[in-house]
Amino acid sequence: MSERQFLIAGNWKMNGGPFEAAELLEGLRSAKNEISEEVDVLVCPPFVSLGMAVKYLHDSDIQVGAQNLHFEDNGAFTGEISATMLAESGCNFVLIGHSERRQYFGENDETVNKKAHTALSHKIAPVVCVGESLDQRKKDTHFDVVSDQVKKALQDISDSEILDVVIAYEPIWAIGTGETASPEQAQEMHAFIRAEIAALYNEETASAIRILYGGSMKPANAEELLSQTDVDGGLIGGASLKADSFSEIISIAEKLS
Ligand code: PGA
Repeated sequence: MSERQFLIAGNWKMNGGPFEAAELLEGLRSAKNEISEEVDVLVCPPFVSLGMAVKYLHDSDIQVGAQNLHFEDNGAFTGEISATMLAESGCNFVLIGHSERRQYFGENDETVNKKAHTALSHKIAPVVCVGESLDQRKKDTHFDVVSDQVKKALQDISDSEILDVVIAYEPIWAIGTGETASPEQAQEMHAFIRAEIAALYNEETASAIRILYGGSMKPANAEELLSQTDVDGGLIGGASLKADSFSEIISIAEKLS
């Protein structure tokens, strides 16, 4: 294992109001009370469950993140949540540019970049999501697509700030479909993203930044994916909604650390 610490992150999407979240977290803590210091664990519940999650997890090593934020600090943006509010609520991570937000809510490379800057200025670590569609992979443009997304997301992010950024590679065709990128496909893209970071910043930064894989990761395939040199953790949707499967993935990461 490299010096990079695994990050196992659960993206709950639009699942888990406060009551359900409490149940899920209780299940997680009873399945996995002790977490090795060598693995970072994060849960990203919906906004309305963040307060409950932070309160419930205050004496645990599990961290809490949000699934989105607005890039302005406050103002007339009905329905939006700012980084100031997230920081005040106890979040230290936020997902940015998830493909579902790009597809259904008009998120684009420009808003992703603005949101990443805003998160960093509030000391919230952005988990920037990138990934190609099936069509783009079939047309063999996936490296260009991901390269473009990475460059635009990280525009004007400084050498010191970049170390707080996490990248999540999530091929759209593997999200929620049960179909996973093969370990070789994941490794190939992760190594490519790391090389892009080296070109944009430097080798040292590239070897320090964490790149997570997301897309149907589950206990049955986590070991082979997490064993890849450049895979530093997982962004897990479906399998993070069950305490047993999420805790099993955490145990696999601990074993590989
Ligand atoms: P999945 O979702 O694990 O259900 O495929 C991953 C994600 O969208 O972050």
